[in-house]
Amino acid sequence: MDIKKVLVTGGAGFIGSHTAVELLNTGFELVVIDNFSNSEPWIIKQIESITQKKISFYQADVTNQLSIQDIFNKEKPDVVIHFAAYKSVGESVTKPLMYFQNNIDSLMVILSCMSQSNCKKLVFSSSCTIYGNNHPNPLIEDYAFSDLPHAYGSSKQICETILQKTTIANQFNIISLRYFNPIGAHPSGLLGELPKGTPNNIMPYITQVAIGKLPFLTIFGNDYPTPDGTCIRDYIHISDLAEAHVFSCKRLLTSNIAPPYEVFNLGTGTGVSVLELINHFETENNVKIPYKIGLRRPGDAVCTYANPEKSKKNLKWEAKRSIKEMVKDGWRWQLFIK
Ligand code: UD1
Repeated sequence: MDIKKVLVTGGAGFIGSHTAVELLNTGFELVVIDNFSNSEPWIIKQIESITQKKISFYQADVTNQLSIQDIFNKEKPDVVIHFAAYKSVGESVTKPLMYFQNNIDSLMVILSCMSQSNCKKLVFSSSCTIYGNNHPNPLIEDYAFSDLPHAYGSSKQICETILQKTTIANQFNIISLRYFNPIGAHPSGLLGELPKGTPNNIMPYITQVAIGKLPFLTIFGNDYPTPDGTCIRDYIHISDLAEAHVFSCKRLLTSNIAPPYEVFNLGTGTGVSVLELINHFETENNVKIPYKIGLRRPGDAVCTYANPEKSKKNLKWEAKRSIKEMVKDGWRWQLFIK
């Protein structure tokens, strides 16, 4: 395959930046667009220094059609990976309009620019949240969307529906990737998650407790119907998740047999409880995580983990890194940023 150009929106974010590294390491040319609304400019330098390769970078808002079309006209990408979106479940409950507007507008701009530039291949960043809490585990791609109480998840469902319904008429080839719980950091310790303010997600919360920025972790409930009473999630190493995007680009660029629109779960297939995650972190890193048991967090699912078989079979991808690597790499990154 000759060298192909991938345009990544939100490429300075947690998943986008790790995907950028894997794309560059695989030999793709890379264009990144980010408005730094939830990321920082120095992350672009980190990507370049890990890979020793250059990125064609644009600071722009993906909802601004004119500036994004200019970038498409200039760069003429072969594939687009669209990460740029708001992603806080809690914030989306209080600001639903902001979430629908940003997450749907940005997708519409990307699709319109792709159409006008004759770029037909897209990887879309979705979430396992679209399944809701009503289906039995492991979750398979065929399960229907559930009605959700938050605009974040609903916006992902709407985006997936838009993609599914536009693919054929526009001769697009699209893969939606449904992420389970990405954690960890690049093994170099030079790249990782940069939460703004107090983290909502568990892993950055644990690492900030470990380094002393936060006094203790509150476990949201230990009276769930699970073996140790705490919730179970399918944690996946961020580099494994990033590699799945490379596999998706390759599939879109080379496969003639792929259906025009496909969805894949990105998980390990193994559930880990909150207490187990804390234990792994403490054992592997030799640090204590003080915690208290608090109330259940409204909206939390008891247990979610993926059936990863479709990704293995069709995408030819599977997660390889262990929970031990996830907690070690996450801690290395926290020590780097302090
Ligand atoms: C959350 C979002 C999900 C989103 C994902 C992105 C909700 C309900 N879901 O998933 O839509 O795609 O983040 O990564 O917000 N926990 C604690 N204490 C904490 C933080 C978390 O006990 O301070 C527990 C939670 O109850 C949960 C687990 O840790 O059982 C993981 O939580 P989190 O990292 O927030 O991920 P999700 O809730 O699975």
